Amino acid sequence: MIPSFVRRKGRISKAQQRALDTLWPRYGIELNQVLDLETLFGRPAEKHLEIGFGRGDALIAMAKAHPEHDYLGIDIYRPGIGYLLLQIEAAKLTNVRIISADAVEVLQQYLPPHCLDAVYLFFPDPWPKKRHHKRRLVQAEFLKLLAQRLKSGAIFHLATDWENYAEQMLLELEAAPDFINTMPAGGFAPRPPERPLTKFEQRGLRLGHGVWDLVYQRREI
Ligand SMILES: C[S@@+](CC[C@H](N)C(=O)[O-])C[C@H]1O[C@@H](n2cnc3c(N)ncnc32)[C@H](O)[C@@H]1O
Repeated sequence: MIPSFVRRKGRISKAQQRALDTLWPRYGIELNQVLDLETLFGRPAEKHLEIGFGRGDALIAMAKAHPEHDYLGIDIYRPGIGYLLLQIEAAKLTNVRIISADAVEVLQQYLPPHCLDAVYLFFPDPWPKKRHHKRRLVQAEFLKLLAQRLKSGAIFHLATDWENYAEQMLLELEAAPDFINTMPAGGFAPRPPERPLTKFEQRGLRLGHGVWDLVYQRREI
């Protein structure tokens, strides 16, 4: 698959750099073999994954709200990882771990089959220009790969404020044999109250953007 991101440098604050230097060894995961999530988190709790957490606002809110679940976050944006590390430390969370890599590569090479109870994809890069649509993460090949990492009945929750991408998500998911729409009548889902409101979304709402949620379930294996 063509990468769904371009590496942005972004400005790293002193506190974020310090967090990357000192907190990464505690909460960051180095990739060198297929991960055993139960050993990694030290318990047999549900494993939830957020792909592209940005600054981690949603991940932190979910991890705080559900201490009984374990949360894995994947992103490649270093200032965001620094920010998230600071939040984890401030909230003394023990149920969050971070991977700094391409999520597609992580799914392909480092996560075992059917290990995830839920996956969140909130406001993925929309790649608005038509010639860039091939960079969008939600496409048949990605869905096939993701389905291989989800447990039977696992939830895949997506949200976007880009209407054209929302329509593509719906088309792709409806066509994907491994996913079932949790909405009995099909289509988009009402905003689930448990989806945390991020700064990114707040900005979009202020600018008058719509937001579309999709909640699918992994078909029984
Ligand atoms: C538009 S931002 C949204 C961030 C956050 N989810 C939010 O709602 O504020 C998309 C994020 O996805 C990350 N991203 C895009 N493709 C990725 C990939 N293949 N693997 C890991 N992270 C990715 C980007 O680095 C960026 O931080």
